[in-house]
Amino acid sequence: MNKDNLVPEKGIHTNFSNQMTYGDYLALDKILTAQKPLSNHHDEMLFIIIHQTSELWMKLILHELHAATRLIAQDHYQPAFKMLARVSRIQSQIIQSWDILSTLTPAEYMQFRDKLGQASGFQSFQYRMIEFAFGNKSKHILEIYKHDKELHDTLYQLLHQPSLYDVAIQALAKAGFEINPARLDRDWSEPYQEDSTVESAWLEVYRNVDKYWNLYQLAEKLVDLEDWLQQWRFRHMKTVERIIGHKQGTGGSSGVTYLKKVIDRYSFPELWKIRTQL
Ligand code: HEM
Repeated sequence: MNKDNLVPEKGIHTNFSNQMTYGDYLALDKILTAQKPLSNHHDEMLFIIIHQTSELWMKLILHELHAATRLIAQDHYQPAFKMLARVSRIQSQIIQSWDILSTLTPAEYMQFRDKLGQASGFQSFQYRMIEFAFGNKSKHILEIYKHDKELHDTLYQLLHQPSLYDVAIQALAKAGFEINPARLDRDWSEPYQEDSTVESAWLEVYRNVDKYWNLYQLAEKLVDLEDWLQQWRFRHMKTVERIIGHKQGTGGSSGVTYLKKVIDRYSFPELWKIRTQL
């Protein structure tokens, strides 16, 4: 073994009394002290860190999705595509985390599950923000956040904004497609209703990819996002089944039965429908 490796190189900075360090910049004092297990059980740390890292990645997903939505509304497609491609990579990263969580056995989880009380991922506000950003709007979910005004107001605002899919449909209209006006300007807080004019427009895009290259790329990026989100939901459901079987969730739902139902929730329905017709 080369012992020289242990000696810092000559130029390495060592005096940080007046300089920002790596830890300062990243606020590691906050992040690394934010794991507060409620039991003495060894495996609770895994449970906490998997959730915290997923939430950090969701924060970046939202950062990218909101910026991409603004850019598409301004017809700046290329930078938006780069952001959406990044979102897909993050999604693939968080899907991998189920592999780590599947090392948690039912016997291990049961030793600290009762400490969670009614807390559940169901209350993840960033997950709801992602659903809203995609276009999967639900007023009812806001009920959960009424105890926290700031959070409630943020979600309320996002509920009332056009989603990524809404701006994609506006892009179809800008390209000259005849789109039902009720899809172009509406109460954005209402769930999106499938529409035959939107379906025909996407069909046309896929039949003339050279002519509508940007819209075609946009459509494929959206399908990537939905595909990965559904895969995340599937892996979540399977991991949950493996760990708690068919017990009720801590959030109060039927558990796996509920999670199975939500796997097939579509945000961009026409983009899936047209595949049968092509
Ligand atoms: C042992 C691990 C886990 C178990 C047993 C579990 C269980 C459940 C259950 C049963 C639900 C349905 C709601 C309820 O009644 O509680 C749920 C929802 C949810 N969980 Fe998990 N979960 C686990 C890990 C995770 C992780 C690591 C995340 C990442 C953030 C997560 C995020 C969510 C989200 C976002 C929902 C809402 C899904 C929706 O409504 O579409 N869960 N979980």
